[in-house]
Amino acid sequence: MKPKIIVTGGTGYIGSHTIIELIRSGEFEAVAVDNCVRSTPETIGRIKEITGICVKHHAVDICDKKAFFAMIEQEAPIAGIIHFAAYKCVPESVEKPLMYYRNNLGSLENVLEACEKYHIPQLIFSSSASVYGDVKELPVTEATPFGKPFCPYAHTKQIGEQMIHFFAEQHPDFQSVILRYFNPVGNDMSGLNGELSPDKPNNLMPIVTQVAIGKMKQLTVFGTDYDTRDGSCIRDYIHVCDIADAHVKALQFLMNGKNESNCETFNLGSGNGVSVLEIIDAFEKVNGIKLNYIIGGRRPGDVPAIYSNSGRANELLGWHCRYTINDMVESAWKWEQHLLKSKQAE
Ligand code: UD1
Repeated sequence: MKPKIIVTGGTGYIGSHTIIELIRSGEFEAVAVDNCVRSTPETIGRIKEITGICVKHHAVDICDKKAFFAMIEQEAPIAGIIHFAAYKCVPESVEKPLMYYRNNLGSLENVLEACEKYHIPQLIFSSSASVYGDVKELPVTEATPFGKPFCPYAHTKQIGEQMIHFFAEQHPDFQSVILRYFNPVGNDMSGLNGELSPDKPNNLMPIVTQVAIGKMKQLTVFGTDYDTRDGSCIRDYIHVCDIADAHVKALQFLMNGKNESNCETFNLGSGNGVSVLEIIDAFEKVNGIKLNYIIGGRRPGDVPAIYSNSGRANELLGWHCRYTINDMVESAWKWEQHLLKSKQAE
């Protein structure tokens, strides 16, 4: 029997790609838990189309402790949990802070309590580079201290990490890995699974693809007066399948007892800073499409440049990025087109 891994947020963007990688590894059985408030149960069918495996899906809210624990009891024995389920929209978190604290931290509290109560030995936690805030020194390593949280979303990730640290201190048999993502973009290279963005997305890549397909009229580049090579902001974009693969490697790392402490932290970035204008250029060249964009003012809260030093994950997890910026823009576009075709077929 393969070790069973519960993937919370399993029908979401990174969760579903991680399930695909877990299946591809051939080493794990994945079970998805997701109430689908920000995703769709149809993702299970997409995973099946890509992998041939129909994973079990529980439509459970992890904040509902009774329902969540009943599900855990039903699925026992469980080898590990990968906890993705959380809200992640920065402006929304500013508008509705309590909703973010309640959902992101309430769910984590239940996940940790389940690990304690049901002796689930391993946890992988989905964190974010936003914990670093406005960093002064680049590239960012895991030793870079937390910055001032610039929004409730980032704050929930900081508190979440600290909750896991304090919990791990009291539970020596419990092993955990915290993964801090930089800017996950792109989709499965088949174009059959991807991010279901809201109608008004905030992140660059879904805006690029929505402008390209005509759902949005225009892309505004938020500032070209930064002190960067072309004046636009620099970020560390990383293909979602590479992020997903790191979760599989993190589980293997814990299962093989390679961790030194029972709460290990890794940055997940490509290590390359890429500007907004370079993303636009790559998208246009790779996909042969002209994007309708204008240069606008700066977006409040944006830092000029941030990118990762991912040496620790490279060395200790044996993890390396397999995909390039061209793969990211190609797969992002394939998925947007796939969504349009599926809608037209309805
Ligand atoms: C944002 C979040 C971060 C979160 C991450 C998830 C903020 C301040 N940060 O990061 O906490 O973890 O998403 O991927 O919201 N851009 C444009 N025009 C647009 C949209 C974006 O020029 O219409 C630029 C931005 O100025 C930025 C870059 O594109 O330089 C990337 O933006 P985005 O995708 O929103 O990611 P981050 O802001 O880096």
